[in-house]
Amino acid sequence: MAKTDQNTKKSELDAPAFQIPTPKLKHLIGIEGLTALDIHFLLDRAEEMVDISRQVDKRRHTLSGRTLINLFFENSTRTQSSFEIAGKRLGMDVINMAVAQSSVKKGETLVDTAVTLNAMQPDLLVMRHHAAGAAELLAQKVGCSVINAGDGAHEHPTQALLDALTIRRKKGSIEGLVVAICGDVAHSRVARSNILLLNTLGAQVRVIAPSTLLPSSIESLGVTAYRSMEDGLKGCDVVMMLRLQKERMAGAFIPSMREYFRFFGLDKARLKLAKEDAIVMHPGPMNRGVEIASEIADGVQSVIVEQVEMGVAVRMAVMEVLQQSCAEDAT
Ligand code: CP
Repeated sequence: MAKTDQNTKKSELDAPAFQIPTPKLKHLIGIEGLTALDIHFLLDRAEEMVDISRQVDKRRHTLSGRTLINLFFENSTRTQSSFEIAGKRLGMDVINMAVAQSSVKKGETLVDTAVTLNAMQPDLLVMRHHAAGAAELLAQKVGCSVINAGDGAHEHPTQALLDALTIRRKKGSIEGLVVAICGDVAHSRVARSNILLLNTLGAQVRVIAPSTLLPSSIESLGVTAYRSMEDGLKGCDVVMMLRLQKERMAGAFIPSMREYFRFFGLDKARLKLAKEDAIVMHPGPMNRGVEIASEIADGVQSVIVEQVEMGVAVRMAVMEVLQQSCAEDAT
């Protein structure tokens, strides 16, 4: 059962009163395909990991002797290091593939790299790649479990899970909350995974962005689209800011950074439009003064540092559940 910072009433959708069955998951490629019960199970397991991670001895040893390979073709601070820490807390041997020094640089294909790593009998491969669908492809080529740590603008499932854990701990439940996802929705895998998860758990999701950063079909994902922060932020419980994903932009989508902050940056005046107890989130890395003012990023409503802590717990939970599911299949 979730711990709460507030005594918010829970609905059945948000907190089932029965024992949730362990999800049968070999891979975690996306939030797409997960049920509300799967998500609750992972979040409940992550709660246990938060407690363990706050102890002096943080080791759990449930995955002792197993091997995790981190394969990051794109830069990362939070995701890669939290998978490494999570793996070590569970007792795994963790290898961080230095992609810049690997044979990928000599022209080896993703599939050949995957098959080569698979021959070393890892139990888990965690991959971040610039191409949407790369993790799915990898999962088809290897025998071990694959976790998608971000594939292009497609999905970043563990980010959405850690965001959900953070929200649930702060608000008590997710069902019925009004969540505004603001900024570069068009290029964001974080936005897509969060939209899928938050809708599955019954939140009302809004997206706020300039037209150039909103896919025309976005409302088919079950969100309400706003082109103005002033309209979209009114009455929100959660304000989730996104970075401009310049590495995925071909061409100019905004006139200038200064102009973008003027109309779409989160500052004190705009945050006042949300509920008084609204929380402010950001997956990081942040661009202060572009999408968020420093005084908001460091302010009392910000839960950005807590999101990072939840990242380790969620990744411990996901890896343990995937391995448990594989072990049950093998018996
Ligand atoms: N949120 C996130 O994916 O951060 P990193 O790019 O630092 O991993």
